Amino acid sequence: MPLTNRPRHWGGGYGRDMNTDTNPPQRPSDAGSRTDFWEGVHDAKDVDGVSWWQSVPGLSLGLVDSTHLAAEEAIIDVGAGWSTLTDHLLDRGFHDLTAIDLSATALQSVRDRLGDAGADVVLEVADVLDLRPRRRFALWHDRAVYHFLTEPDEREDYFASLERSLRPGGWLVVATFGPDGPATCSGLPIVRYTHEELAAQFPGYQEVDRSGEDHITPWGTTQQFTALLLRRPARASGSGAQG
Ligand SMILES: C[S@@+](CC[C@H](N)C(=O)[O-])C[C@H]1O[C@@H](n2cnc3c(N)ncnc32)[C@H](O)[C@@H]1O
Repeated sequence: MPLTNRPRHWGGGYGRDMNTDTNPPQRPSDAGSRTDFWEGVHDAKDVDGVSWWQSVPGLSLGLVDSTHLAAEEAIIDVGAGWSTLTDHLLDRGFHDLTAIDLSATALQSVRDRLGDAGADVVLEVADVLDLRPRRRFALWHDRAVYHFLTEPDEREDYFASLERSLRPGGWLVVATFGPDGPATCSGLPIVRYTHEELAAQFPGYQEVDRSGEDHITPWGTTQQFTALLLRRPARASGSGAQG
């Protein structure tokens, strides 16, 4: 299932990791080598070498569970990386699952990990800022991707992808670093959100639930996450993201 025209790229040449960077790289403003950057991260690291790794995505699963979505419904995880969300959704009986990421390396690891159980899971190399699916999803999940969008035009592109992909009445589960979370992720600057600030990014969407956690990284540090469950109105809204 083709999901997107083409991956976009960021201008690159910057370092690989992590929140421990003392000299963060200059964030490029062009689309040159973003894929290269994220491929580099997944190529150079194991799962326990990235701060966001968790074997059980409890925060996300809690919000997905609270939707009481039927097992037949279609779910997309954007910027899925190595996340085990798909594994756990399969365990819950969901079978129309799609995960996208810029990193083919990350998705291949997921494919290998899922084995036969995940034979029907769609894993696509695609850019969430330019997602053009041929079908709509009932739930869009994003953990630790939206916060990388530091520019208003990126957030507008993301919102446009969301509106093309999520059916009216569909659910949005989104989690970012919270106000006391790190200022960078994987060496890149990020935007930290309160629940109110994050909800305001999705005009017209109804806040259904809010959550959060202090995520413990594989090396024992803490990252504060803000998480929301939002619902797209049954009739499509036309407005863009808030800059
Ligand atoms: C911090 S990691 C989070 C991974 C996963 N969501 C999790 O919670 O474990 C960010 C992920 O987003 C992917 N990513 C970054 N920008 C992206 C984009 N524009 N489109 C698709 N994936 C992107 C990266 O390759 C990486 O796998």
